[in-house]
Amino acid sequence: MIKLALFAGDGIGTEVAGEAVNVLKFLFDSNSVRYEIEEDLVGGASYDEYKKPITEKALKIAKDADAVIFGAVGGPKWESLPIELRPEKALLTLRYDLELYANLRPAKIYDELIDASPLKKDVVQGTDMMIVRELTGGIYFGQPRGIFDLEDGQKKGVNTLVYTTKEIERIAKIAFEISRKRRKKVLSVDKANVLECTELWRQVVARVSKEYPDVELTNMYVDNCSMQLIRQPKSFDVIVTTNMFGDILSDESSMVAGSIGMLPSASLNGKKGMYEPIHGSAPDIAGQNKANPIAAILSVAMMLRYSFDMDNLAEKIEVAVGKVIKNGYRTADIYSNAAGTKLVGTKEMGRAVIEELKK
Ligand code: IPM
Ligand code: MG
Repeated sequence: MIKLALFAGDGIGTEVAGEAVNVLKFLFDSNSVRYEIEEDLVGGASYDEYKKPITEKALKIAKDADAVIFGAVGGPKWESLPIELRPEKALLTLRYDLELYANLRPAKIYDELIDASPLKKDVVQGTDMMIVRELTGGIYFGQPRGIFDLEDGQKKGVNTLVYTTKEIERIAKIAFEISRKRRKKVLSVDKANVLECTELWRQVVARVSKEYPDVELTNMYVDNCSMQLIRQPKSFDVIVTTNMFGDILSDESSMVAGSIGMLPSASLNGKKGMYEPIHGSAPDIAGQNKANPIAAILSVAMMLRYSFDMDNLAEKIEVAVGKVIKNGYRTADIYSNAAGTKLVGTKEMGRAVIEELKK
């Protein structure tokens, strides 16, 4: 029996997670997979109900589950709350408490969506990369942190960038392992010319790479990487980087892939994982049946692959999504008025994927 936790969250999170779960249920039911799904509020929705972004009960549901399906959290309504109570804290708590240190963010362009990318066709065509972002360390969690009073009446804002050898080793290993199933190229991204912490990062990654002589390791500074991602996205295979650099570079990579509405993610610790679209809660289009559910649907495919070794079911979803795109279904974020395309809503897109799976 597969045990899943479902935290749809806020804004379009509920809409896209809803479609992803529909696809999953269809697939499980038609393949006689037994499962149960326990749902709870997180983010702003949880704050409105319980005055905190995530409750002990929700955390326990996540801990007891084999995998967590996550929508998105946040919205203007909760933006002025203290940082500890903001919706984003739910996500950070789940990542930290479940020790989901390895965040995989694939960015791949579908040929049919090349026009949705703001970059030129010959630059993006064929792009297929995987960002491996460290997710439970670095400046997101380092101590000390806070806003402190200074004696002269000024204030001082502090965050701390920290990585230990062990934290770097384990994320580097994940990157090298993944690259063996791809083109066997790992690029480690740091700012070793300025930050000691990432000088250590570079040293440790180099040491780990000795265990993977068949994989080519290169290094790049993050500023240069952000430029090369736009200049020659095709040249990237696996990128391994820190929590914050990965946060930034993965948003950038989504433009290369056409739309942030297309990109799934997995946050892993061994088989246990949390699966979420990389986009946020998009309050501006929430509740209007406009959001693209594909990132959420592809996140469920990642779940089948990484948490349950159901590669064949994962592939079914991926193939169905590819066909739906080929058949011209487009939500607003990927709509370009090209011949043979039709503008559809969240629900229609989800339904189209299920119809494809039925064939
Ligand atoms: C992401 C998001 C989160 C992050 C926010 C919502 C806390 O931007 O998953 O990339 O910064 O990690
Ligand atoms: Mg981000």
